[in-house]
Amino acid sequence: MPMPPWFHAPALVALADAHPTPFYAYHGPTLDAAAAQLRTLRSVDRIFYAQKANGHAQVLARLAGHGLGLECVSAGELAAGDGLDAPLLFTPNFAPRAEYAEAFARGSHVTLDGLHPLARWPELFRGRDVLLRFDLGVGRGHHRHVRTSGGDAKFGLAPEDLPAARDLAAAAGARIVGLHTHSGSGIFDAGTWAEHLDALQPLAEALPDVRIFNLGGGLGVPYGRGHVLDLAAVDAALAQARARAPRAVEVWLEPGRFLVCEAGVLVLRVTQIKDKHGRRFVGVDGGMNALIRPALYGARHPVVSLTRPGAPSAGRVTLVGPCCESADVLARNIALPEVEEGDLLALTHAGAYGFTMASRYNLREVGEVFIPG
Ligand SMILES: Cc1ncc(COP(=O)(O)O)c(C=O)c1O
Repeated sequence: MPMPPWFHAPALVALADAHPTPFYAYHGPTLDAAAAQLRTLRSVDRIFYAQKANGHAQVLARLAGHGLGLECVSAGELAAGDGLDAPLLFTPNFAPRAEYAEAFARGSHVTLDGLHPLARWPELFRGRDVLLRFDLGVGRGHHRHVRTSGGDAKFGLAPEDLPAARDLAAAAGARIVGLHTHSGSGIFDAGTWAEHLDALQPLAEALPDVRIFNLGGGLGVPYGRGHVLDLAAVDAALAQARARAPRAVEVWLEPGRFLVCEAGVLVLRVTQIKDKHGRRFVGVDGGMNALIRPALYGARHPVVSLTRPGAPSAGRVTLVGPCCESADVLARNIALPEVEEGDLLALTHAGAYGFTMASRYNLREVGEVFIPG
């Protein structure tokens, strides 16, 4: 597996001398490159970075520096934007009442994804502009856990709830200025976001104030193999969808993974090696506590040896963490060079949904280090 250029071994080995493992390392220039790629989308008016993917303060600051807003799903994420010159967008799910009040107080755009807030807390919305999130019935993405529409997904309003939402908003004195949908994560079909725009058009017909169409995130990242999302094709499809829209529209996207995935690696140290039942287990000092994606989604991250970069494969191994769970497997049946206790390994493409989903399970910790450039 060739290493992406930024995390050549000497730089990360030097970092590991200064920081206890396991830790995530994030690379500023790789964030810049991803932001610049998204800024080539001419048919997109505004991009809000979905900070649930990676909430490190310097990551947020770096992306805000590219003119990106911040998409937030909790009071904590709203507060993370303090001090940054970044517009906020609040797109929560089953959040408590106080968090909507907090979002308005911070001047954030607010997206509603159920009738409950308008029906039960109408006073919160008097004189306010809101967006409505819809489940358009089709979930997409790399695993069933990341498909947020269709089936029994808990997100969004059903299209048939539109009249009730419109009436409740009118009764509360709120204006519906935008529609939103997000169908999942890890999507490689370039037509997806244009399809979202097309599918939201009929819903906008009865809503004269709607001008914003937030088409969600979910832009796929290849994790070092397979598909690449064709951004030019995404843009071309969106341009066509905008051209056929019956009114002038403002298009927003809220990607997370695309912006941060390749900018992060998880650096781990080998603890023990075990041969059992014809299989070699290589143990490292962070497992599902540090990176839960393999256990949760069957996600596959490339693994490289930082101690022996470029060395030939010494055979296939199972890479496991130190947690007391059978699911504590970071990678199965991967080729690795010879390894010894104390060697440094890196799981690459780990900048998204790594630290933000980490836990202190078994009271183990994982750190974060930002490399400005
Ligand atoms: C509403 C919403 N928007 C955006 C995102 C970001 O998705 P991704 O990181 O795949 O771009 C998510 C992810 O869960 C989401 O639920």
